[in-house]
Amino acid sequence: MHIRSEIIGWGHYLPKKVVTNDDLAKIVDTNDEWISTRTGIKTRHLVEEELTSDLAYGAAKMAIEKAGISVDEIDSIVVATVTPDNTTPSLAAKVANKLNAKSGTVTYDISAACSGFVYGLTQADNMIRLGQIKTALVIGSESLSKIVDWTDRNTCVLFGDGAGAVVIRAKEGEGTSADTGILATKLYADAAHYESLKTTGGVASTKTAGFIFMDGKEVFKFAVNSLSQAAETVMQMGGISSKDVDWLIPHQANIRIISNVGEKLELPTEKVIVAVDHHGNTSAASIPLALSENIESGKIKKGDIIVMTAMGAGFTWGGALIRF
Ligand code: UT7
Repeated sequence: MHIRSEIIGWGHYLPKKVVTNDDLAKIVDTNDEWISTRTGIKTRHLVEEELTSDLAYGAAKMAIEKAGISVDEIDSIVVATVTPDNTTPSLAAKVANKLNAKSGTVTYDISAACSGFVYGLTQADNMIRLGQIKTALVIGSESLSKIVDWTDRNTCVLFGDGAGAVVIRAKEGEGTSADTGILATKLYADAAHYESLKTTGGVASTKTAGFIFMDGKEVFKFAVNSLSQAAETVMQMGGISSKDVDWLIPHQANIRIISNVGEKLELPTEKVIVAVDHHGNTSAASIPLALSENIESGKIKKGDIIVMTAMGAGFTWGGALIRF
């Protein structure tokens, strides 16, 4: 018997307010041409009154409805975020509270920046395969607009707000790549790059959240290599070659990074999911948001092979190979 974690529910939630590049050009010295050609971003959603927990709750509710289960069946809720409502308790606890989750539901947050969803999915998958839990709700949710310096054109044009979620559940498989569910995961980190992508503050250092700072060029180069490495590794682990992959869902930070990774993996552009144009970079939310949108649109179908790959502050990176 081989336990797999199968994706049985998916959801996403975006705040209503849409901000265009032209809107940003009214705030900082930028323009649509620069943002479009350098990043591929056209619009992003930004929160007004809503909190990160409201976004997470919206995505979670949809994922639970799609799964057709009751909240009581969820054993663990994990939220990947760097923009929680409160420093403590976790955002997962807030979501559990809003969902009326039963006493005993395990709740915790993952702080791995843009890799957070892949980290959270890996952990939940491992707990399921060990038999510790049967069903998990894994969410990526961010209000990055709250930690962006709106006077810094280098960063404020890049980020967006939103949330995505999946419900995963234990299912018996054969132990082959024909199984549905998570087939392989791999996580990495290299803390030598701590200073290259970070916030300028934090609870212990400044008693504030700080603003996002990034050495764009260094992150860009590292992202292309690490995203490709993680994708290649999980494909190898699962015995899947490039030609068997139906969809690559890379972290959505920059269209040039996404295209480079697609090329390195020798995947045709139509197999590479792009959402950065209308979401911007939503950090931990970017992969589950793109996944849910593309399942809903009918693009991603049952049985498809999906490769997720993410990279973020830390530096952290990792991948997941899934048969949907
Ligand atoms: O989520 C974690 C992962 N994050 C990423 O993967 C992001 C990785 N990095 C990137 O995507 C890119 O490095 C950026 C999009 C951040 C920057 O693109 P770039 O091609 O590396 O541009 P640059 O930083 O070299 O800047 C080029 C020029 C500079 O002007 P000078 O010094 O050449 O005169 C910037 O001041 O573009 C200028 N610039 C802007 N101009 C108009 C920077 N931001 C803007 C802006 N509008 N918003």
